[in-house]
Amino acid sequence: MTMADRYQASDSMLVRAEQTIPLGSQTFSKSRTAFPAGASPLFAESGAGSRITDVDGNEYVDLVCALGAVTLGYCDRDVDAAVAQQLARGVTLSLSHRLEHEVAERLVELVPCAEKVRFGKNGSDATSAAVRLARAYTGRDIILVCGYHGWHDWYIGSTARSLGVPEAVRALTVSVPFGDLEAVQAALAENTGNVAALIMEPMVVEPPESGYLQQLKTLLHQNGSLLIFDEIVTGFRLAIAGAQELFEVTPDLACFGKGIANGHPLSAVLGRAEIMDLMEEIFVSGTFGGETLSLAAASAVIDKYTTQPVIETLAATGRSITAGVSELIDGANGTDFLRAAGRPEWSMFAIDVSNENLLWDLRTLYLQEMARNGVLTLGRHNVSYAFQERDIQQVLDAYARAIPLLVAAHERGSAAGFLECEPLRPLFTIR
Ligand SMILES: Cc1ncc(COP(=O)(O)O)c(C=O)c1O
Repeated sequence: MTMADRYQASDSMLVRAEQTIPLGSQTFSKSRTAFPAGASPLFAESGAGSRITDVDGNEYVDLVCALGAVTLGYCDRDVDAAVAQQLARGVTLSLSHRLEHEVAERLVELVPCAEKVRFGKNGSDATSAAVRLARAYTGRDIILVCGYHGWHDWYIGSTARSLGVPEAVRALTVSVPFGDLEAVQAALAENTGNVAALIMEPMVVEPPESGYLQQLKTLLHQNGSLLIFDEIVTGFRLAIAGAQELFEVTPDLACFGKGIANGHPLSAVLGRAEIMDLMEEIFVSGTFGGETLSLAAASAVIDKYTTQPVIETLAATGRSITAGVSELIDGANGTDFLRAAGRPEWSMFAIDVSNENLLWDLRTLYLQEMARNGVLTLGRHNVSYAFQERDIQQVLDAYARAIPLLVAAHERGSAAGFLECEPLRPLFTIR
């Protein structure tokens, strides 16, 4: 079957969608900027357990898992039952609902930094609320950022995607690299007395070096600044309470999203009561803030994580994948530029090539070949609790086919002749 046949419905749907929707998608990471048009699917029909079916009827083991939001698997029976039960009682009501404080109470029990909680819908709601709280609490303006934190002005203005963000806003955010204490020291010194907080992803690719997160916390507190962990990916993945639980460093505030409700739109900012109480003075408030279906989903998610070995299973699945991928890389003589990186709960297939064009050609080839062999991926191994042995095997079979092609293209210094689509190019580089 040719690529044109395999992705016929996706390709024509893209043409139609782009007539009414810029880019044909709501999300850059689901669009033709992330998946190579013509050589991978672009529209999903349904998901079930570990798998997703595209609009052409092709089925994939899904290593994207809705950009990491689905940690239990699609259509988890217990989550769906809780949502269906709540659906019969109303979605968004005119008064606050008991699920708001019930889920907040459970988060306070589970998350070390949490004394109080506020909910939002997107992760960006939580990070933006945390930043506003930090500015209100410290009376300072500058925010240090490390990682990806969403689409709002205060963050995206610090990246190459800053079009539309006023210079005055951009000047208030300083990006610092992961794992570099001296860079944080320098940024604090350059902005003495004016850094409200560092907001960071506590793990990006590799885990932080031992003691690093604690040193950061001490340094920030010495300077009167707050430490905010963006646990939107790491929460409900590295541990229930994310990196703060795994690495035993308690931040002042933390942001959760994605896995908190297994794909339902829910996020949370939580932290020390003394800071969180400023929510009554600042303004963070929205019509859908207490939407009940996502909260019912979160409650069912927390039940599952606290009664079943979810984290252990994510780790075991990840370990099988990374061990298998490392072996395949070795066997194909690809160790000089390929590796399985990160912790098993959130690992990735890393292509270490400094030539940017070649890197993106190889990345495109990787996505093309994995999709051809029934695996949807963006490079990260976002495994879910629904993964079974046969899913792991399918992932490794796809890698067994893709890796030798990557090695051959790398040897040639070009993916030309292998690629059946236009190569992707980066939107912006963060991590
Ligand atoms: C670490 C991190 N922070 C924040 C966000 C923003 O979350 P959302 O896209 O739900 O606004 C994301 C999304 O990918 C993320 O990965």
